[in-house]
Amino acid sequence: MDFKKYIQIVEDYPKEGIRFKDITTLMQDGSAYKAAINEMADFARDKDVDVVVGPEARGFVVGCPIAYSLEVGFVPVRKAGKLPREVISVDYGLEYGKDSLTIHKDAIKKGQRVLITDDLLATGGTIEATIKMVEQLGGVVVGIAFMIELGYLEGRDRLGNYELFSLMTYN
Ligand code: PRP
Repeated sequence: MDFKKYIQIVEDYPKEGIRFKDITTLMQDGSAYKAAINEMADFARDKDVDVVVGPEARGFVVGCPIAYSLEVGFVPVRKAGKLPREVISVDYGLEYGKDSLTIHKDAIKKGQRVLITDDLLATGGTIEATIKMVEQLGGVVVGIAFMIELGYLEGRDRLGNYELFSLMTYN
């Protein structure tokens, strides 16, 4: 399937010079959304994944259905102040901004095989922070799956030697 035809590019959003890739136009098409999730889940199907981890908010949109398809659990990574129980946190830089991310301290058990998912790889800051937290809790990252990779931002270089999958790449 030509997934790119379902992605809307919005010029100068959320600020000048950014060409925002809007995935909502893909999500609102049932067959495109299902096909996209299936391809991302297929990447991980033979990896013996124990749990899927994804950062809010758009990471949930891909991570939850992938977890459902793999018949494993989903663990949310959230911005500071959003998770109710004890967390660990990591500061990170975004393509446009800064924040800190958190995960529940008991969400990953030592040795669990983790698939990390997100809608978009830009600078890699979000996923770099997510990897750090997963590994701090003793999880083993067995793969990272994105719906979209912005190749020109070279986020991939920042993520080290993990097995990466991107459904679509923009260069
Ligand atoms: C966006 C996107 C990725 C991240 C990618 O999320 O969904 O998670 O930025 O950028 P990076 O590779 O430079 O870290 P955002 O923080 O805007 O949150 P949202 O999903 O809640 O809109």
